[in-house]
Amino acid sequence: MAFLEVKNIQKSFGETKVLRGIDFTMERGEVVAIIGSSGGGKTTFLRCLNFLETPNGGTITVDGDEIFNAAVTYTDAETREKRLRFGLVFQSFNLFPQYTARENIAMPLYLRRAEALSRETGVRRLPRAQKHELQEAARAAADDLLKNVGLAEKAGLYPHQLSGGQCQRVAIARALALSPDILCFDEPTSALDPELTGEVLRVIRDLRRDGHTMIIVTHEMEFARSVADHVVFMAGGIIEEEGTPAEIFDHPTSEALRAFLHKETEF
Ligand SMILES: Nc1ncnc2c1ncn2[C@@H]1O[C@H](COP(=O)(O)OP(=O)(O)O)[C@@H](O)[C@H]1O
Ligand SMILES: [Mg+2]
Repeated sequence: MAFLEVKNIQKSFGETKVLRGIDFTMERGEVVAIIGSSGGGKTTFLRCLNFLETPNGGTITVDGDEIFNAAVTYTDAETREKRLRFGLVFQSFNLFPQYTARENIAMPLYLRRAEALSRETGVRRLPRAQKHELQEAARAAADDLLKNVGLAEKAGLYPHQLSGGQCQRVAIARALALSPDILCFDEPTSALDPELTGEVLRVIRDLRRDGHTMIIVTHEMEFARSVADHVVFMAGGIIEEEGTPAEIFDHPTSEALRAFLHKETEF
């Protein structure tokens, strides 16, 4: 069984069928790039994996654990637990403007650990000293993560004091803080000025080197070719074609993929 198995994921918004049966597998440590024209359902697919949308049909299994089945109703606690398998880095960073870089990372980590501890111990309100200890540990972890994305010096700055590339690196560190099995990126550089994309792509390359399992939606074709083990072309709510970077970029078979690549590479 593959590390991630997605079977027949379907999602409609009202009458509009956005995902029309996505079947998808990947192995641990693999990097998959998803490409395709706007409106093809790429973001919706990542949002389904991250439990930000509830699919109308299908199943999602990670490491043998069925984390989603459209036929099953889950409690909020179950959903919170299962969603931790995935992390998502958004196109527009989604940092909290009122928190520093450090707090943006430490806060969700603290909340997560406090919740886990409450559940383990059966104590609903943690004692002050214990809260303090957890907060300090979360801040220290945040500083380590910031160092890993080259932002040790910026821990105390607010998002408005950081460049777009720096904000996105904070967002990546925040997603990593919860140790997801699979890290997803939704066009991580498309909101950035061209001169800032390099620093973000470099961080993603480092994550690949460290063995992270990643799904990257991107319109940077050269990046997709060089970073991905496997490339998926989505169009009209289905996977139209998939293969190695060489197969997809050098030997596209479907007319839709050929047309897409032609459009992407012209000026
Ligand atoms: N919350 C929503 N309500 C209604 N339609 C939506 C919603 N989210 C996405 N869609 C529609 O689903 C289609 C696919 O969107 P999306 O997943 O964002 O594609 P992509 O990321 O490939 O551009 C689009 O036609 C979009 O308008
Ligand atoms: Mg999108």
